[in-house]
Amino acid sequence: MFLPSPWRQYFPGVLALAEQHEVWLDSAATAQKPQIMLDTLSQYYQQGVANVHRAQHPPGERATRAFEEARSLIASWLQADAQDAVIFTKGTTEGINLLSQALAHHFQAGDEILISAYEHHANLLPWQQLARTHDLQLTILAMDDAGHLDVDAAIAQLSPRSRVLAVSTLSNVVGHQQSLERLLSAARQQGVWSVIDGAQAAVHQRPNLQHLDCDFFVCSAHKLYGPDGVGILFARAAAVTALRHWQFGGEMVRSCDYQHAEFLPAPLGFEPGTPSTANIIAFAATLDWLMSLDSAAIAQHEAALHAAVLEGLRSRGMQIIGTPNCALVSFNAAHVHPADLAVLLGEQGIAVRAGHHCAMPLLKSLGLAGAVRVSLAMYNNGDDIQRFFNALDQALEILQ
Ligand code: ALA
Repeated sequence: MFLPSPWRQYFPGVLALAEQHEVWLDSAATAQKPQIMLDTLSQYYQQGVANVHRAQHPPGERATRAFEEARSLIASWLQADAQDAVIFTKGTTEGINLLSQALAHHFQAGDEILISAYEHHANLLPWQQLARTHDLQLTILAMDDAGHLDVDAAIAQLSPRSRVLAVSTLSNVVGHQQSLERLLSAARQQGVWSVIDGAQAAVHQRPNLQHLDCDFFVCSAHKLYGPDGVGILFARAAAVTALRHWQFGGEMVRSCDYQHAEFLPAPLGFEPGTPSTANIIAFAATLDWLMSLDSAAIAQHEAALHAAVLEGLRSRGMQIIGTPNCALVSFNAAHVHPADLAVLLGEQGIAVRAGHHCAMPLLKSLGLAGAVRVSLAMYNNGDDIQRFFNALDQALEILQ
C-alpha cells in the first residue's frame, strides 16, 4: 500500500519502533513525539533551570519569560482572544475536574448538567460525582446508531434548570466529528455554560476558539505530539470569573495571613505549585512546529489512511462501531473477544488498543464488551496499514 508519510522522519520513536518491527496504531491513546519536542526539552534542562514567577535572579526571569511566551504561543494556536485565559493543567482529565469543582458553588439541587452518551470517563465521572454530591441531575444526550449526537433532541433538552453542557467534538470510540455549532449557540442563548472536550479533535483539526462558541475548552499535550502531564484549559474572558479557586498553594496568592487569603485571578490563581515548566515550553515548541506544517496535506494523508483501514475492515466483514470519519476506527470480529485479537496483533508487532476505551457506558449501551481500536497519526504510512491487515488475517485465522 503506497501511502508514504513525509512527516515520519521527524519522529524518532516511530523509527525506533519500526526497527523492532513494531507499528504504532494507538495514537488516540498517546502520540509519538517529534524531534523538536525532545530537543526543546533537553535544551531547556541543559541551559540551567529556574522556577517561574517567584525569583528576581536572571535565570528565574529567563524561565518566566520562556514560560509566558509558551502560554502566548499556545493561546495563538487556540486562536483565542487576548482577554481569554489559558490555564495549564496536568491534562484533559484535570481540566474537567477543575471545572466541575470550580463551578460547583453556582449549582442548586435540581440543576442539570448535560453530557453526551459517547463521553470518555474524563468528561463523565467529574460531572457524575458533582451531580451525586450536589443533588443535581445528570442528563445524557442521545446518540443515534451511526454515532452522531442528535443535536435537535439535545437542543430540545436544554431547560431553565440546565447549567452546564459538556461534550466532546470527536469521540475516542466512534471517531465521528460532531457538528456542535447549533447546540453551542442554543446553550449560549439559554445561559448554559458550555465545555468542549477537545482531547481527540484538537489533534486532527487546530481549534479556533473565535469560531467555536464555547465557554471552556480542554485538551492534552501528550495526544498532540507533546509531553506527558500537560493540559490546556481555555476559559473565555466572560466565563473565567465564574470559577472559584480549587487547589491551593504557592504562587497563586495575592495576600495571605494565618486565617485568610486572597488569590490571584486566572491563569496564575489556578496554577498553584511549580508548573511543568520544561514540558509546557516543549509543548509550545511542538505546536509552533505543527503550525509550520502543511495541515491540509496532513489531513489528506490521514484521510487516505483512514479510508484504507475502513475499506480493509469492511472487506473482511468486521463490525465497525458507528460511522467513523476521522483518524480512528473501532471494530469487532464475529465470535472473537477484542482483547484476544489485540494480544495476537501485539505479538505480531501491531499496537492497537482494545477494551472499553474509558467509555464503559457507551460500550454497554451498544451491547458490546469491548472493541479493538486502530488510531492514526501523521507519521503512519501505507506499510503500517498493510502490516496491520497481514497481522489481522493471521490472528483471525487462529481465532475464528
Ligand atoms: N483517552 C485515551 C484513549 O482513548 C487514553 O485511548
